[in-house]
Amino acid sequence: MKTIAITGVLGYSGRYMAAEAARRGWRVVGLTNSAGRLANPAGYELRPMPWSSRENVLEGVDVLVNTYWVRFSYAGAGHAAFSHAEAVENTRQMIESARRAGVGRVIHTSITRPDAASPLPYFRGKAELEQVLAASGLPHSILRPAILFGETPAESILINNMAWSMRHLPAVATFGWGNYGLQPIHVQDFAELALDEAEQLAPHRIINAVGPECYTFRQLWGELARSMGLWRPVLPVPSAVGYMAARILGHLVGDVMLTREEIEGLSQGRLAVPGPTVGKRRLSQWLREHAATLGRAYASELARRK
Ligand SMILES: NC(=O)c1ccc[n+]([C@@H]2O[C@H](COP(=O)([O-])OP(=O)(O)OC[C@H]3O[C@@H](n4cnc5c(N)ncnc54)[C@H](OP(=O)(O)O)[C@@H]3O)[C@@H](O)[C@H]2O)c1
Repeated sequence: MKTIAITGVLGYSGRYMAAEAARRGWRVVGLTNSAGRLANPAGYELRPMPWSSRENVLEGVDVLVNTYWVRFSYAGAGHAAFSHAEAVENTRQMIESARRAGVGRVIHTSITRPDAASPLPYFRGKAELEQVLAASGLPHSILRPAILFGETPAESILINNMAWSMRHLPAVATFGWGNYGLQPIHVQDFAELALDEAEQLAPHRIINAVGPECYTFRQLWGELARSMGLWRPVLPVPSAVGYMAARILGHLVGDVMLTREEIEGLSQGRLAVPGPTVGKRRLSQWLREHAATLGRAYASELARRK
């Protein structure tokens, strides 16, 4: 039986990947810093990520699937405190350990439109890691998702919280005209893609892991409204005003709702790409199926990270 090591097996996408790997007959090893913090109902063998000892936890691993990253840098306490710079450094070490351990293939999660020249640390850090992986000589597949959704509203933080805003506010907003795109992929489609790539033989692959539907930000508000049977005016506001509104709302719910950098990345059209799509599950269908529960409760990123 071949061994697959997956980061974040107790978290979001890594959990779906681990379940899919187990279904396909892989022996799953989870790499995590969250043993004891998050439940391990599937009883995966867990190893630390990052690791400090001289022992290389990737010895004997055939395929490494990496999801290790963080939505935004945060200087709070405990597990919530984490930065893009730390994620880049720890991933760099993980790739080097994979090389030394002779791991056969790495499936690496990046982002649509990574950019080494971007002032946005998310897109710059992801581009840097793609380069590190390419330079490692390890056979690899790079998956570039834009935004994940499914299976439950609570897991689909950004989309759920757009729905929450729509339920609780008299009007909602776009940053500028809202004509930049987003191509969401269902987390199960993403997991299946990762496991398909684990069996790939081509040395280097880069795949835009985007679903079958592309929305502008404005259209996404419309789709949410239709699925929930609500109507709200969608006001175009300057990004700075939208950011202030998100900050105030975040303060009220004890979360960081959206960062200035996330708004910039979104408005620059970085979450949509031309070309083929890979997911088959449709956001529009999922919204209709979850309309009754979508946005009823706020989904807190910081609470998830604690
Ligand atoms: N979710 C989306 O909508 C989305 C959109 C585009 C791209 N992506 C990419 O998809 C990948 C997976 O995303 P996800 O939402 O599934 O991530 P996740 O489950 O929240 O976390 C994935 C990994 O990052 C580590 N991590 C997250 N927050 C951490 C913290 N505060 N301190 C230490 N480690 C932390 C986790 O470590 P532990 O195992 O220790 O928890 C886990 O290994 C990421 O590379 C992300 O950039 C996601």
